[in-house]
Amino acid sequence: MTKRILTWIKPTDNQIHLGNYFGAVKPMMELSAQYPDAEIFLFLAIMHGLTGLHDGKAIHDNSLNVLKIYMACGVDLKKFVIYNPADVPAHAQLSWVLGCITHMGFMERMHSYKEALDKGKSKEISVGVFTYPILMAADILLYDADMVPVGQDQKQHVEYARDIAQRFNNVFGETFKLPEPYIKPEVGTILGVDGRKMSKSYNNYIWLLDDEKQVLKRVKQIATDAKTVEEPKDPDQCNVYKICKLFLTPEEDAALRAKYQAGGLSYKEAKDYLYEKIMAFLKPIQDRYAQISDQEIIDLMKKNAVYVNELANKKLAEVYKKVWFTL
Ligand code: TRP
Repeated sequence: MTKRILTWIKPTDNQIHLGNYFGAVKPMMELSAQYPDAEIFLFLAIMHGLTGLHDGKAIHDNSLNVLKIYMACGVDLKKFVIYNPADVPAHAQLSWVLGCITHMGFMERMHSYKEALDKGKSKEISVGVFTYPILMAADILLYDADMVPVGQDQKQHVEYARDIAQRFNNVFGETFKLPEPYIKPEVGTILGVDGRKMSKSYNNYIWLLDDEKQVLKRVKQIATDAKTVEEPKDPDQCNVYKICKLFLTPEEDAALRAKYQAGGLSYKEAKDYLYEKIMAFLKPIQDRYAQISDQEIIDLMKKNAVYVNELANKKLAEVYKKVWFTL
């Protein structure tokens, strides 16, 4: 039987920066290349976004924009089943049932909840933050997902989904497939223009949709040391090189390294080269982005919702039957 893999996009931001590209978008494309025979469900965590951001309009707009950028980057939607769980009522319905068989103690141990507690104001944490892993378990279990590739931060959630599936199966009879958390290989840190990890909170990012002026400004911000033009330089000590190498073929990389080591390369030249490389990378993405309409994405989600609802409703009916909800 075809393997079903479940993955997601969380629309926390409106834009995608180069760090997100190499850390999330590219691995998404690699996933579909690595499992050409699998059915990859790709859902938009729009219902989940509301736990953290009480601005539905922003989540809505972020969602569409981020998806457009993913598409523009070359995420081939034909290789995924993209959908919005908000179009599938069974997510919320199943999460009620799972919540009824989940002990408080279990949820209290969740890192995501504990982190929220650590930030203080424990009485103001939404119940949604607390029960979030239950919704996540429903996301996974409704579709008999075989594999859920996650980073370390989500491992505990998938393990909970597995535990709760097992508990349900024990109490009410075999119903759910037990999902495997698959820990995604670590993607090396992508540096921002200040030499720290590229992150929105550090204001050191380059958005994929940045124009020439913005990119140039960012490239100029990259800190370099005080070596003269003539001095040989160690590329591995240079932030310009470290960012640049992401965009180079092995031949270009070797040539640039040789230039650094030989001396005679100014940081201005290195930055100009980096700027060219970044723009050459961004331009086709931006051109494709301009061609994609919101409606195209909405239509696709609506279309997929029919298929996804069919599967989810079938599973939910089985659950309702097992717990005797149906009179
Ligand atoms: N919790 C994930 C995150 O914060 C998003 C998510 C929601 C998810 N439901 C899921 C991940 C189901 C895997 C499976 O990024």
